[in-house]
Amino acid sequence: MAATVSELLLHWYDQHARDLPWRLPPAAPLPDDPSWPYRVWLSEVMLQQTTVAAVKPYFAKFVETWPNVKALAAADEAEIMSAWAGLGYYSRARNLAKAAREVAAMGGFPRTEAELRKLPGLGAYTAAAIAAIAFGERAVVVDANVERVVARLFAIEEPLPGARKAIRERADAITPESRAGDFAQAMMDLGSQICTTRAPKCLLCPLAEQCAAKAKGNAEDLPVKPPKKVKPERVGTAYWIERGEESAREVWLVTRQGTGMLGGMRALPDDGWSAREDGSGEPPIDGEWELLGAVSHAFTHASLTLSVARYAGELLPSGEGEWWPVEQLDDAGLPTLFAKAARLALAQD
Ligand code: ADE
Ligand code: SF4
Repeated sequence: MAATVSELLLHWYDQHARDLPWRLPPAAPLPDDPSWPYRVWLSEVMLQQTTVAAVKPYFAKFVETWPNVKALAAADEAEIMSAWAGLGYYSRARNLAKAAREVAAMGGFPRTEAELRKLPGLGAYTAAAIAAIAFGERAVVVDANVERVVARLFAIEEPLPGARKAIRERADAITPESRAGDFAQAMMDLGSQICTTRAPKCLLCPLAEQCAAKAKGNAEDLPVKPPKKVKPERVGTAYWIERGEESAREVWLVTRQGTGMLGGMRALPDDGWSAREDGSGEPPIDGEWELLGAVSHAFTHASLTLSVARYAGELLPSGEGEWWPVEQLDDAGLPTLFAKAARLALAQD
């Protein structure tokens, strides 16, 4: 009988699996260690919308600081937020803290997809990935890499997101009963190393003979993406307010409120840009503010240009906040947007 997709793929994975800090070698037995599902969960949450290369140093820092879910559950949420700074999508960090407390209270991670789904921050993909990778449960794991491989393998030409149902059904049909974690990660590796968005390396692909898109010659066109939405452009102003001199210099920082954009993160005070869409509001700058320039940052749903204004004189900021030593600004856990604004202000001393 001809080899199945999963046999071909697992055989390839046995030789070509990426060696990643949160992974077991191919075909290794699951460790009987409560920190194992913790590491899988942490890595999968970090890997949502973030590249492997960007995740590696954060994963290392987190497991060193908080080696198990109990330790993370006991951590101060502000500390977790600040350790997450730079990784983006900060609601993940808020949910991470919440989920850690729930899991610690339960005495450990649940092992089924349905139970995992109930934890804060775990969507269909992440719950399936953890069930498969941490516990060896058969689960249909579909991320963007898997979506691309499956759309090509079966030449699914319907555009996304409509194609998702067909992709899921096909993914289900090729998912084996055993080696669930290896299969899921083999699909991810194939998608990121071989079946790449541009110029897929079909000559190196273990599934080439089974691949409908390769046969048709339209692999690179699949999956068909929906038309791009234009990102709204937002503008705002961040304020650099300082006191002290030399090594005693301090800057006024606030902690952003709520669960909205960058909620819970430390930041420079600003004029409320996140509430404005058209930039029509004039920034409240008069003669005492010096405009230093602007920084830009692209978020998923909007691009933002933030002017940076420095207050020239002595100013006692109103509202909640803290004076932070300028020399230790790297430890403040500023999200990338505000780290850029701070760099701009400091470059103009
Ligand atoms: N992306 C998401 N999860 C992953 C994993 N376990 N290995 C590699 N890339 C991933
Ligand atoms: Fe992707 Fe090419 Fe392999 Fe098909 S043959 S799965 S298009 S790399």
